[in-house]
Amino acid sequence: MTTTKPYLLENKKESNRLKKQAQSNGYLIEVELRGIDLKNFHTFLDVGCGSGVFLEHLKNKHNNFRYTGIDTSEERITKTSDTYKDLENIEFINENILSSDTQLKKYDFILCRYFLHHFSETNVVKILKKLKNLLKTNGVICLIEPDGILNNIFPLSPSEKKAIIHFNEKYNVTMDLGRKLPHLLETCGYQNIDWSMDSFPKNKNDYHDIEVGLMLERILQTAANLKDPKDKKMIEKLSEIIQSPNSVLFHNMFTVTAELKNKNILSLVKK
Ligand SMILES: C[S@@+](CC[C@H](N)C(=O)[O-])C[C@H]1O[C@@H](n2cnc3c(N)ncnc32)[C@H](O)[C@@H]1O
Repeated sequence: MTTTKPYLLENKKESNRLKKQAQSNGYLIEVELRGIDLKNFHTFLDVGCGSGVFLEHLKNKHNNFRYTGIDTSEERITKTSDTYKDLENIEFINENILSSDTQLKKYDFILCRYFLHHFSETNVVKILKKLKNLLKTNGVICLIEPDGILNNIFPLSPSEKKAIIHFNEKYNVTMDLGRKLPHLLETCGYQNIDWSMDSFPKNKNDYHDIEVGLMLERILQTAANLKDPKDKKMIEKLSEIIQSPNSVLFHNMFTVTAELKNKNILSLVKK
């Protein structure tokens, strides 16, 4: 069985933080999913569904769908299923996707949004392989993940840079996941891989008005969960750096899609 580290941002306020973030410029799901017509699909799996940001979007775009949300957080699963209890054909599963033994069905569309960068690259591959078995032939997997974040801060001293690398490794965070996803999907046997990317923040005002505020919320929640005082201190130091007037921190948000096609019968015959 694969073990995973506890979710780094676990906190009673996490549902609210996710909802607030979803309304902020730079984290808008309608922008991330532009060009994808959700009405082409009927069954949806939302992995690490959190506060239901995708379900909220889906119900406004589609009037005949089946949805499954899976998340390790009992608190968020309870809250989110209560919010959407009046919708039909909705189910929520409180499990870890990697060790889940629930008999999940096959889906037309699988989404992982802001989810996979909370794992090591090895576990990302394990999750993508598991999801391949849950995707119908001709179904689409859609991964929305940042690339950059703490890796893209200036100014940082060499020792602070080293501390960030160490932190990422220790807590299994992959801060540069966006750029790796097309290759990882190919490795796992997906086809028709496509991607688009957007950079955020766009200017100094967005940075100081939105990004720093959101980042501080993440940093405070993370620091509250850390046991090692050295790690806590490092995270607190970062919060000071990003608030200084001419610091810059930025990320690229990737939307990566891939499909599963019918097996090529000729290649099977050749074997
Ligand atoms: C950053 S939140 C993103 C939530 C949501 N997808 C969104 O777009 O707002 C990541 C979510 O993944 C969940 N999670 C973390 N590890 C998980 C795992 N192994 N299996 C299922 N859910 C997990 C967390 O509890 C959290 O709700």
